[in-house]
Amino acid sequence: MYATAALGNGATLQPGDAVLVKFHAATGKMKTGTVSHAEMLKGWFVMVKDSKGRYAGNKLWGDGWGWSWFDAANPSKTTSADYKTDCQPCHVPARVSDWIYVSGYPPLRG
Ligand code: HEC
Repeated sequence: MYATAALGNGATLQPGDAVLVKFHAATGKMKTGTVSHAEMLKGWFVMVKDSKGRYAGNKLWGDGWGWSWFDAANPSKTTSADYKTDCQPCHVPARVSDWIYVSGYPPLRG
């Protein structure tokens, strides 16, 4: 659905790959209060666990992950170009937890 196969230059998902997806929805003031609707969805942050360094040389893969952003308007192709500039600067504080902020992914520890 979110076309992770398009994570750049022919990268494909393997069985057992761990994939994290963060939805980014626009919030807006409505008569009924603040809403966050699927229709206002902006896109998805996607991270695919990669402990083997499968795609050396691909700028969307590195530090144990494939990283990308998918626009809701064009979900079949990532618009990110380089995780080191598009993603990593903000994720530096989470470096100690394998670059992810939420510690609630037990299968990814280890
Ligand atoms: C403006 C800063 C910023 C940028 C740029 C950014 N992130 Fe994040 N990201 C965060 C923060 C802060 C969180 C944790 C809080 C939250 O979920 O909003 C997060 C959470 C996530 C999560 C959910 C798992 C987790 O770590 O909690 C994923 C997946 C993710 N980001 C992927 C990406 C990818 C892929 C990119 C680049 C395409 C990216 N992010 C760029 C700040 C950023």
